[in-house]
Amino acid sequence: MHDLDAFITGLPKAELHLHIEGSLEPEQMFEFARRNNVAIPFASVDAVRAAYDFSNLQDFLDIYYAGADVLRTEEDFRDLALAYFDRAAADGVTHAEIFFDPQTHTARGIPFGVAANGLLAGMAEAEKKHGLTSKLILCFLRHLDEEDAFRTLEQAQPWIDQIEGVGLNSSEVGHPPAKFERVFAAAAAMGLKRVAHAGEEGPPDYVREALDLLKIDRLDHGNRSLEDPQLVTRLARSGMTLTVCPLSNVKLCNVASIDEHPIDRMLALGLRATINSDDPAYFGGYVADNYRAAAAGRKLSRQDLVTLARNSFLGSFLPDDAVSEQLARIDAYVEAQS
Ligand code: ADE
Ligand code: ZN
Repeated sequence: MHDLDAFITGLPKAELHLHIEGSLEPEQMFEFARRNNVAIPFASVDAVRAAYDFSNLQDFLDIYYAGADVLRTEEDFRDLALAYFDRAAADGVTHAEIFFDPQTHTARGIPFGVAANGLLAGMAEAEKKHGLTSKLILCFLRHLDEEDAFRTLEQAQPWIDQIEGVGLNSSEVGHPPAKFERVFAAAAAMGLKRVAHAGEEGPPDYVREALDLLKIDRLDHGNRSLEDPQLVTRLARSGMTLTVCPLSNVKLCNVASIDEHPIDRMLALGLRATINSDDPAYFGGYVADNYRAAAAGRKLSRQDLVTLARNSFLGSFLPDDAVSEQLARIDAYVEAQS
């Protein structure tokens, strides 16, 4: 293996932007379809992969929601989570904060608890098996209405102590953060952290709304903030973490090619940027693949990679002592490499 590849793989890192439904590999899709007796509109794994050719976010979302239909039982969600954690552990991930989309499942008659219990079981198993810690973030689908989001928050109540925070995802343009101001305020009152996808396809104003109205603790994507220098200054000064997803940005045509990705520009502007995989089964790579693609495309130095990994723990929702421990692991790793 190339030196830098090995350095990236071994570098302790957190993943902060990962949709567990987006880790459903085509092979698993067939396996779950078979065991649950669900029909899927593809003849083979290759045919599924060939369909992953997207022009924008909506193209992807249509196929991503369709794929999730094979997830029916607690065991499916547990197996899905554990497969992701096995893969993440092999990429040097020591902590992950994962999203799930309960409304995608409850809308199909799968109770909230089937997804939540299955994922929590996979998370507990990953900690035992790999020492990989994790947290669960409930995402509201922004193309649905406020009432549906409130209903979902209500359904989450029996599990609320095991849920770290709420997020906002799905079709961004036309569904501004303002639509969810009240439900985010209710989540805050329950002591939940808040994150939101903003500035992936939507304008810088959506990022402002996420900050001012949703009072987010972390910004998912945030790329289009770069169009607004005052917003960049605000994000940098406040130490806001951006969960950037390079391969996702290329696959969804938000960035023309990895060679033009703004990850190094974000760091140079003083933004606390991190690297994440978003929906690895759909976008062609897990987190280390994203580090490698960004490193190759933008000629990142080892120091840049270490900064990105440090940012991932600084931007996590781990308590301070656990963050310090993880940063010390990075220091020990870097020391041992030189
Ligand atoms: N759901 C899963 N991945 C997403 C993304 N990148 N943007 C918005 N919603 C999503
Ligand atoms: Zn995402």
